[in-house]
Amino acid sequence: MNRESILMLVDDSHFERACADLNVDVTVVYGAPQRDWGMMVVPSGKRQVFVEDARNIESVILGLYRAGLTPSTFDAIYSTTEGGVLTAAALGAAFGVPSIPVQVAAAFRDKALAKAAISKAGIDTAEFIVIDDLHGLAEDFSMPFETAVLKPVAGGAAHHASMIESDADLQAAAKRAREHGKLRTFILEEFISGEEWHADGVMFGGSLRFISVGGYRKTCLGTISDKEWLRTYVFDPVADVEVYDRVTPLAEQALQTLGLEDGVFHMELFYDAESDRLAFGECAARRGGALIEEEVCYQFGVSLAEMAVHCALGTQPVIKPDVRPGVVGSAYLPYTPGILHSTPSAAELTALPNVEFAMVEWPIGITLEPVVSTAMKIGQVLLTASSREELFQRGDEVVSWFRERTVIVPTQATSRELREWYARTAVDGSRAHSSWKRKGADE
Ligand SMILES: Nc1ncnc2c1ncn2[C@@H]1O[C@H](COP(=O)(O)OP(=O)(O)OP(=O)(O)O)[C@@H](O)[C@H]1O
Ligand SMILES: [Mg+2]
Repeated sequence: MNRESILMLVDDSHFERACADLNVDVTVVYGAPQRDWGMMVVPSGKRQVFVEDARNIESVILGLYRAGLTPSTFDAIYSTTEGGVLTAAALGAAFGVPSIPVQVAAAFRDKALAKAAISKAGIDTAEFIVIDDLHGLAEDFSMPFETAVLKPVAGGAAHHASMIESDADLQAAAKRAREHGKLRTFILEEFISGEEWHADGVMFGGSLRFISVGGYRKTCLGTISDKEWLRTYVFDPVADVEVYDRVTPLAEQALQTLGLEDGVFHMELFYDAESDRLAFGECAARRGGALIEEEVCYQFGVSLAEMAVHCALGTQPVIKPDVRPGVVGSAYLPYTPGILHSTPSAAELTALPNVEFAMVEWPIGITLEPVVSTAMKIGQVLLTASSREELFQRGDEVVSWFRERTVIVPTQATSRELREWYARTAVDGSRAHSSWKRKGADE
């Protein structure tokens, strides 16, 4: 029997490793951002096709034909990238290849479609309105909510999301969008207070087969606006069983409402301890980003990437969680804007107590931009501890340790400021910040 073969839009090293482990062929269509990042892993048996934009259906179809490939020859089409999920669905529909149905992909991708369906099903979620064109916001537009969150209707990584507390705030956001933004269609939602949680798991045959529930130490929006660095944790399925009992039925009902039959998901929820309100936030029909794969593997011994391969091929995944006691979580590693000179290595990070896994992601010499989304960080660590308090404390210590040892050259500095910075930082101590020497002259 021929090996099964998956067409993948945008690379995902975990998914590709799982394909290799399961003896499944994978052809990866990748675009300019992935090529320029320069870190794509190439396991044997994997074919790569370069196109300008691997999330754009025209770009993908033309690139595949140029490479002599026909989409209809694959056994499944899949994407772990938020902007690629609907493209994979549309390609699957056009070429008769199993993929997520288009309507389902749309319901997950568009925050307004999702929330309309969720609230119709009687599940608690934020009230919302859609602003079709923020650039054309009427001058007398009146906010329907006292406090709201404004964000692109199909965005990601909290980019362009902002708190809106008055009509004037909304007008200011419209002005910013007109001046700087290409984005036009936004959703304005009632602000929901409380903690932000996330649920990651697997649906198969329309039923929930596995769920891991975790949280963000501070909400994603709060983290960005307070200029902090994202921190996550996973609830212990034994010690925090009441959290699982509360989230599981809501998550399964939401996933069934949105129509996910077979697939891995990443859901966000809000929980307010004061009012005991648990509300649906949003859900993606793909694995979560950051270190979700590593966190779930550590806590449960389950690879969501591997489950995604099974689901894409329509084979029932065998999921046998092997729960490890203790708490696992992750921390983003910080930076300040500037040019990256040096950082501790991943090996130095994993030599620290409580650090199970580390990634330091940016090349030396890169210009690090100011943080505007939860996709931005210089690296990440997976942390383990015996309690959530210890996890947070160790996370703080590791982040400070990393920050103190990271050297970033300021940009837009004068020569004098750079000399002063160099003298202060003494990067390697080997060179004065300015010097003259004539051959043979006395020291
Ligand atoms: N209605 C709301 N009430 C309170 N906070 C909200 C609300 N909507 C969004 N947020 C905050 O804004 C963040 C970004 O919003 P949302 O998750 O909907 O968009 P996103 O850009 O797709 O995010 P990501 O890709 O990071 O999951 C959320 O993680 C949350 O912290
Ligand atoms: Mg989100």
